[in-house]
Amino acid sequence: MDEFSLLLRFIEQTLDIRCSQYKEDYIKRRLMSRMNVTRMPTYREYHAFLRAYPEEIAALRNALTINVTKFFRDPEVFSVLRHEIIPSLFRTKKRIRIWSAGCSSGEEPYSLAIILHEACLRDKSMSGTIYATDIDHEILSKAKQGVYEKNALENLSELQIKRHFTCLPDGTYEIKPHLRTNIRFLHHDLMKGAPVSRYLDIITCRNVTIYFTENQKSELLREFHGGLLPGGYYIMGLSEYMGKEGESFFRPYRVQQKIYTRI
Ligand SMILES: C[S@@+](CC[C@H](N)C(=O)[O-])C[C@H]1O[C@@H](n2cnc3c(N)ncnc32)[C@H](O)[C@@H]1O
Repeated sequence: MDEFSLLLRFIEQTLDIRCSQYKEDYIKRRLMSRMNVTRMPTYREYHAFLRAYPEEIAALRNALTINVTKFFRDPEVFSVLRHEIIPSLFRTKKRIRIWSAGCSSGEEPYSLAIILHEACLRDKSMSGTIYATDIDHEILSKAKQGVYEKNALENLSELQIKRHFTCLPDGTYEIKPHLRTNIRFLHHDLMKGAPVSRYLDIITCRNVTIYFTENQKSELLREFHGGLLPGGYYIMGLSEYMGKEGESFFRPYRVQQKIYTRI
């Protein structure tokens, strides 16, 4: 087995990340960035470094999962949105505004668009806009393209796939235009300090802030507070924490799903 394959085997066993899910190029680029930082010029040396310094394992995990996302990631969060939050917003207004901050390759905003579309089917006078932003131009253009492998659709029902995707000749699935019309994809850096829009009803910023310092996280909470309407919803990733300062901006709505409302 060559040096690269040995390193991949170690990563699969130790980090529990299935490298075969990714393109080899992607893995190599991410590995190269960690090899540069740690000044390990070969796969063999980097492999030995990983074994010697367990803290590098966390750094590599972050580097490999930076764009990882899924349709209806954490389904219970989307269930609260579908059954409670969206219907309750539509009881008081005809049009709602959502920001998917750090949207990666688009699965999160398209999942939101599916929920919105299904809610609006019952009443044609209702509608919604989703702002979907990311700092990474490359991933944002993948999001705009909206073409996914079949295995990316595992959290969708057959009916949802039929309704919202077109199967292309090469076996990939393309988002249908009726979902795209509600989404505005924009390049935006969350560290720049201004919300992408104001008067928002919901902000989802999930699994984005792992690299942010405590100060940057506090700034971001202020930014989100400024962008949301009173009573608007802020949704974090399940492994992220609000922190003390956030408690003056947001109160818990569903603690387990990391859903908060603006004070
Ligand atoms: C792990 S993905 C999360 C995708 C989706 N929110 C989810 O939970 O499935 C994190 C995304 O955050 C983006 N990101 C990281 N830093 C950012 C920043 N400063 N501004 C905007 N996006 C950022 C990355 O480019 C990446 O696409």
